[in-house]
Amino acid sequence: MSANDEHAKITVPDLLAMKGEQKIVMVTAYDYPTARAADAAGLEMILVGDSLGMIVLGYDSTVPVTMADMLHHTKAVMRGAERIHVTADLPFMSYQVSDAQAVENAGRLMKAGGADSIKLEGGENVASQIAAIVAAGIPVVGHIGLTPQSVSALGGHRVQGRSLDAARAIIADAEAVEKAGAFAIVLEAIPRKLAEIITNRLSIPTIGIGAGPFCDGQVLVNGDLLGLFDRFTPRFAKRYAELSTTIGAAFGQFADEVRDGRFPEDAHGFAIQSAVLRQLEAEYLSGDEPG
Ligand code: KIV
Repeated sequence: MSANDEHAKITVPDLLAMKGEQKIVMVTAYDYPTARAADAAGLEMILVGDSLGMIVLGYDSTVPVTMADMLHHTKAVMRGAERIHVTADLPFMSYQVSDAQAVENAGRLMKAGGADSIKLEGGENVASQIAAIVAAGIPVVGHIGLTPQSVSALGGHRVQGRSLDAARAIIADAEAVEKAGAFAIVLEAIPRKLAEIITNRLSIPTIGIGAGPFCDGQVLVNGDLLGLFDRFTPRFAKRYAELSTTIGAAFGQFADEVRDGRFPEDAHGFAIQSAVLRQLEAEYLSGDEPG
C-alpha cells in the first residue's frame, strides 16, 4: 500500500505494485451494504459491473443496462467503499460510438458516480477509446475474452480463445489494451494456459474470471459467489454461500411468526407510562366519551 494508514484508499499504483507480489481479489457489488462487506473483508477491488442488469435488475443480458443505471448503483457503492478501489463498468453503447462519447461517459462515472476507475469491454477494437479515456486522466481496466456485451455476436456465453487463431487474437487484444494505457485487464472465460501466457507477457495485472489460477487476481460476480442468482451458475463460478435459500427461510419464518402471533414480542415494541395508560383506559375503554 502507498500509505501506512490501513483505511487509505487503494490506488492504481498500489494495484500495479501487486503484480507478481500478491493476488488481487475483486468482487462485483451494486449497493451500499455489499460494498461495506467487501471493504470490511479486506478485498482490494469492487467492480460495479454491468452484470447489474442480470443479477439485480432481472434482464436476460447486460445489453439493456444504461448509464443512468450504472451511475445510480456506482453512487450507492461509493457510499460504502472507504478503502477498497471501485471500478465502474461503461455499459453497452456508452463508449463504442466514438472516443468523445467514451471520454464523456467515463467522466460521468468518475465525476457524478465517484468511481476510482472505469472498465470497458474489447481489445484492439476499443484501443482508441481506452487511449482517449486515459489521456483524460481516468484510469481504465480492460476486459477481453468472453465479453458479455457482445454475447449476441459471440453466439452465447462460450469459452473464447481455444483455436490457435482465436488465442493469437486474444493475445493481440491484451497487448493492445496494455499499450493503450489500461492499468489492469479482466480475462474472462479463456483457457488457463492462454491466461498464463498473457499474464507473463503483460506488465499490468490480469484479473481472471474463468481464466484459471495463473492470473494476477480473480473476480467473481457476487450473485454467483453468494448464491443469490439462481437462473444459471457459470461453470467457472464457485458458490461460497446460499443466500437465496437463507433469505427464503428467513422470510418464511417471519411469515409463520406473524401469523401465529409469536412476532412481535415485548422486546420489539415500546412501553407507555402506567399513569398515562390508566388515563387513556379511563377515557377510551370505560365506554364513556372522553370529557
Ligand atoms: O459486469 C461484470 O460483472 C463483469 C465481470 C463478469 C467481470 O464484467
